[in-house]
Order: sequence, then C-alpha cells, then structure tokens
Amino acid sequence: MSTTYTLDTATSRAHPVPEPVRRLTVPAIAARKSGGVTANPLVMLTAYTARMAQLLDPHCDMLLVGDSVGQVIYGLDTTVKVTLDMMIAHGGAVVRGSYRAVVIVDLPFGTYEASREQAFITASRVLRETGAAAVKMEGGEVLAPTVEFLVARGIPVVGHVGLTPQAVNALGGYGARGRSEAEAAKIIGDARAIAAAGAFALVVEGVVEPLARDITSAVPCPVVGIGASAACDGQVLVIDDMLGMFERTPRFVRRFDDLAARISHAATRYAAAVRDRSFPGEAETYRQKG
Ligand code: KIV
Repeated sequence: MSTTYTLDTATSRAHPVPEPVRRLTVPAIAARKSGGVTANPLVMLTAYTARMAQLLDPHCDMLLVGDSVGQVIYGLDTTVKVTLDMMIAHGGAVVRGSYRAVVIVDLPFGTYEASREQAFITASRVLRETGAAAVKMEGGEVLAPTVEFLVARGIPVVGHVGLTPQAVNALGGYGARGRSEAEAAKIIGDARAIAAAGAFALVVEGVVEPLARDITSAVPCPVVGIGASAACDGQVLVIDDMLGMFERTPRFVRRFDDLAARISHAATRYAAAVRDRSFPGEAETYRQKG
C-alpha cells in the first residue's frame, strides 16, 4: 500500500507505523456531510513538518499544510510572502509523516489567481511533488471558474472564504467578516459559487456566527470553520496557536497546552546542566568498547 509509512529507523528519529493503515480519501471526507448533516464533525489541524504530522495524524481527518507556515515557521509578517517552493517542501514532509489523514496544501498568493491554466500548472506541481491529495485556494465567486477547471481535471480543491489572509492588503486587517448585511451576502454568494464549482470542502474563516450557520446550511459540501463558531461541519486551527506557542493569538483560538512555557523551562534546565557540567553525564557518554 503506497500510503504505508516507512522509515529507515537506523538513521531516523521518527517512529515507524506499527501496521499498514489505509489513508482517508477526498470522497470519504465529502461524504461525511450527507443530506446537509455532518454526524461526526471533521477534525483538521495545520502541520508543517513530518514529525508533527506523525503526532497529529491519528487524531485528524485532514492535515492542512497552510500558508500560515510563513508566519509560524519562517517569522514572516503575512502569508503574502510565502513561496510555492516553501509549500512544496513542507507539503512533502507532512505527506511523509502521515498515513491516515487527507493532506491538503495551500496554494500561495500569486501562484493561481492569474488564470485557470496558471492554477492548473501550480496545483498539479503541488500534487506531483508532495503526494498530497488536494489543494486549497482562497477566494470567492471570481475564483469559481478556476475551481471548476481544476476539479474537471482531477485536482480536488478546498475553497477558503470569509476572511482570506492572502488579501490582507486589500482587507486592511484580520477582523471578523460578515457583520454588515452586504458583506454577509457577498460571502455567502462566494461560498455557494465555490461549492457549486466542485470544491469538496470549504474553509470558512473569521465570520460571525449567524453567517457561519447560513453558509453551512447553504452548501452541500462540509464547511470547516476557523473563527467561525461551532455552527460548522468541522473545525481547523493553526497547530502552534492551539499548542500555546505564541503570546498573542486571535480570540477564537483555544490553547490546549502551554508549550512555549514548557520549552522555555526545558531550555533553562539544559543551559544550567551544561554550565554546571552535569550534562552530558555517564549515561550520555560514549566509551571505548572492551
Ligand atoms: O494557512 C492556514 O493555516 C489556513 C488556516 C488558517 C485555515 O489557511
């Protein structure tokens, strides 16, 4: 089975998977919403590295290699600066580190908006070079013909509407969307258009609760929310946000751990052990054999 995860354990720190596992498929994810109902909410998290993918994989239906990699891993101020090469490098790592979840890779800003052909060239390169199952693209009605073009050519697409961070320069910030009637109507029109074009799922980001509810009941595909209330068919968070790696996070984030403090604590203990020469100790030292 090509999705079975194997590693050379003589040279790798990563753990091999104990038994072959069949990877979830795009149609299986789409089928989780049936007759407008999603009995089991879809679980999605972002991942950017092989080891994190291994840890998250048993718990997630989908792993998203988000262009948030730019901010989380590279310290960029916006996702606008993320390149296709970055997405492909991290996408490949997440596919290698996972064996069950559907892996979706974000198309970065400037690599798909110009034309349907540009989007196809970019998306096909992503699938070919990473092994991921699908791509995600930000945008509404104007992007619908592109989504249709890709889907018709065998490229599964996840849409992304509401707050679209790649458009931060046009939006002027990351505030919640859909507070006015006109804005809400525009976003629901975007969601309908992208779903009708064949997206198998939609990420809806940073919208007020009534709009999230309306979108979720308006489209047949699963709606995965981030900052979009519990009304959606599933949820996604940026992994480092939910692990408590950053001091500042958006209001919609719940910290399920406080990893930043735990890492600081470990580094403090390591530094003290190096300075007082208690590390490395006998157990951590190679000796001549015989
Ligand atoms: O880039 C990303 O991590 C995303 C999520 C916020 C959905 O698109």
